[in-house]
Amino acid sequence: MRTDTAPTISRHDYRPYPYRLPEVALQFDLDAAQTRVRSRLVFERVGDENQPLVLNGQDLDLESLALDGQALNASQYQLQDEMLTVFPKTARFTLEITSLCRPAQNSSLMGLYVSGDKLFTQCEAEGFRRITWFPDRPDVMSRYQVTLRADKERYPLLLSNGNRLQAGDLPDGRHQAVWEDPHPKPCYLFALVAGDFACREQTLRTRSGRDALLQIYSDRGSENKTQWALDCLVRSVQWDEQRFGLELDLDRFMVVAARDFNMGAMENKGLNVFNSAYVLADKDSATDPAYRAIEAVIGHEYFHNWTGNRVTCRDWFQLSLKEGLTVFRDQEFSADMLAQDLSGAEAASARAVKRIDDVSTLRIAQFPEDAGPMAHPIRPESYQEIGNFYTATVYEKGAEVIRMQHTILGEAGFRAGMDEYFRRHDGAAVTCDDFVSAMESVYVQQNPGKNLDVFRRWYSQAGTPRVKVELAYDAARKTCAVTLSQHCEPVGIEKLQSPALPKPPLHIPFALGLLDQQGRPLAIEHGGRALDTVLLELVDERQTWEFPNIPEKPVPSLLRDFSAPVIVEFERQDAELTLLAQHDPDPYARWEAVQELATRQLLALVRAFTDGGEPVVHPGLADTWRGLLRDPGLSAAYKTRILSQPTEKELLEKTSPMNPAAVVQAGRHLRGQLGQALAPLWLETYHACADDAEQYRPDPLSSGRRSLRNLCLHYLMAAAHPEAQALAAAQYYGAGNMTDRMGGLSALVHFSAGAPSQEALNHFYEQWQQDPLVIDKWFALQAGAPGTTVETVRALMLHPAFSLRNPNRARSLIFQFCMNNLQGVHTPQGYEFWAEQVMALDELNPEIAARLARAFDNWARFAAPNRDAMHDALQRIQRHPALSRNVAEIISKALK
Ligand code: PHE
Ligand code: ZN
Repeated sequence: MRTDTAPTISRHDYRPYPYRLPEVALQFDLDAAQTRVRSRLVFERVGDENQPLVLNGQDLDLESLALDGQALNASQYQLQDEMLTVFPKTARFTLEITSLCRPAQNSSLMGLYVSGDKLFTQCEAEGFRRITWFPDRPDVMSRYQVTLRADKERYPLLLSNGNRLQAGDLPDGRHQAVWEDPHPKPCYLFALVAGDFACREQTLRTRSGRDALLQIYSDRGSENKTQWALDCLVRSVQWDEQRFGLELDLDRFMVVAARDFNMGAMENKGLNVFNSAYVLADKDSATDPAYRAIEAVIGHEYFHNWTGNRVTCRDWFQLSLKEGLTVFRDQEFSADMLAQDLSGAEAASARAVKRIDDVSTLRIAQFPEDAGPMAHPIRPESYQEIGNFYTATVYEKGAEVIRMQHTILGEAGFRAGMDEYFRRHDGAAVTCDDFVSAMESVYVQQNPGKNLDVFRRWYSQAGTPRVKVELAYDAARKTCAVTLSQHCEPVGIEKLQSPALPKPPLHIPFALGLLDQQGRPLAIEHGGRALDTVLLELVDERQTWEFPNIPEKPVPSLLRDFSAPVIVEFERQDAELTLLAQHDPDPYARWEAVQELATRQLLALVRAFTDGGEPVVHPGLADTWRGLLRDPGLSAAYKTRILSQPTEKELLEKTSPMNPAAVVQAGRHLRGQLGQALAPLWLETYHACADDAEQYRPDPLSSGRRSLRNLCLHYLMAAAHPEAQALAAAQYYGAGNMTDRMGGLSALVHFSAGAPSQEALNHFYEQWQQDPLVIDKWFALQAGAPGTTVETVRALMLHPAFSLRNPNRARSLIFQFCMNNLQGVHTPQGYEFWAEQVMALDELNPEIAARLARAFDNWARFAAPNRDAMHDALQRIQRHPALSRNVAEIISKALK
């Protein structure tokens, strides 16, 4: 592949495809070594005459090509640069193509590929072109009829989208199945699966009284691990009916687990293909967070059936149209599942746990992206390789942008906007702007004379805005004036434009509460009502709101529920944060206050470790934590969040220049100090959280207790408490479920070097070597452990269970080390190792390699020795003679 010449595709260059393609018939002769695909495509010209028909194709052999039944010879078509061009003379014509592809040689896991003894496809974003020549773009939507033929013994099950019309035997031990998908779709939603599978299924009556068959397919032997996924699917179907009025539009909805998969899962119409990590779970092999992740991903892919499939993207710049919206929907689904059977403050606090987790993800993964060389708006302006834009920005920030619309319009308003969106666009391929316009139709009714023009800038601006808060209390008039001002630094390519363009203000919904000096909520009069929380809509650079009848100088509770993806700047004393930590009725803002206190403490420690000062831990912090740990009104799940230190990565973002060694040291020091200061309470809570392990259920309450118990163990180990090691070993060896077992093992591996930890690791491997998902955890735990060095990782790579070809395995060892083990990787050998692995992976799987290539996006923000070594490693990759377009784009942007 040539790299230096990869063209840049720009959003503004979009042109409609000049042909419609209403009907597609595909016939597959499936074989791992060589698969023959015959396609019959009926095209209809849309615009002017004499427009060439251009089809995409990659790594294919052309066997034959016929136009309206006439075979074309090489002079009647063009075949170059992965494009096939024919020159039709009529407005309507049929093209018949026969081509070959080689699944067994396809290690990219895009297009048709082999995983174990099975065949799978992955077509999003541009993988269909590896199957046959086709207009591989999402705005060409067709009805598909698919015939699959294969050896019956090797591939007893033949699946594709839609309904199975017919199945039967062929001569020579082969058989066939014919599938028809009644819904027009773009080719990126096509799928086929062939192989031997176990199936768990149930029928479900949908709202309008239709019976739908729900099926989960997995490797034989794994069928006892698919009940949870099926339950999650049932709840997803019911939730989308209840919350959005959206019904399943298929007779049959299938989920298939694949061991080799680049991403989490794929929403192919009626035939979702999943990374097995997001399907398989039982109490002995899956942790509580894994159960939650399965729920989220099953939900996510199911919700795509409407947001993504029924209404799809016009072009790939609109990716966030489906991804941001669908992430928002899966986040709400998960939150609703946590709050099931609860009401009032309890429900709010259960939902807040999910919100806190999502905000943490955003800050760890998206904020750095938005400040680095890959920064892009949620609707990118250009790309070289679309695979590189399945990012935290498009997904997670995209979901925040949808959430802000929900916050501004309210639940009922948002629902009305969604209804309008489907009324306008069902069955079409549309743009982000179409979505905002549907929401705007509700907004203008609610706010005559206003519109969402300023809001739309969220789709075209990159960077995390900063909102500065100023508060002025007038004791004589009893008024409180709150001033918000916003600012967003140029980022990424914006910085290269000179002079940097000034960025216009955004529409920022800012939720604010006020507490009195005792921590009691103050009623705020706003818009003719008295409220605990007001929503300020900041649309200018700077705006002031004045609230009357405020009896005393208030303590503000800011950006409640994280109402916008921004960084808040407000100067205040620790005492105010402590008050909020104790009293803020908004569970998100309360968590945030504690995080801020801990961050201040950690940054002071980072300074001490950098300059050689005394590392002092403020006793007030331990007091606050003690109060929270004792608070009977807080759930265990919430306590786990509020008593967890900010991660090393979040902290690193706040140091300048970045100093990973000091960040790691600071985190460790504080953990030890808090462990010691609260040791009796950690121990007491540890015992109080014990459940009957045989009674395992992955429900929010008991999993909350398990998470708090593991946190207690963690602090006791950090404090080197005399009982800790024995507790950890007892918990590990005596565990009745994987959550407890991993908690014990990770405590041993993180905090007790030497024999006990190695023995437990060996024991674990012996027990679980047959279960790849569990062995992934085994690799990941070691890759992330504090003592792990490049040598440790190289030794693990020689383990017979390691393979670079399996993405889950590569992620569990190499990604985990390079992206999360700050102590281990930030060394000259670490950077060199990383460069080597990026290049090795690139030969196999460019999509995966390009993700690893992003590990040091922010190299320029580190101090000199690290920075120079990272720069060298990046240049080494850049000099590699045969980089994929994927990796080349990442590296060249990092080095700009
Ligand atoms: N569209 C998938 C999702 O978000 C993600 C994906 C993208 C999977 C590309 C595979 C390849 O649900
Ligand atoms: Zn998605």
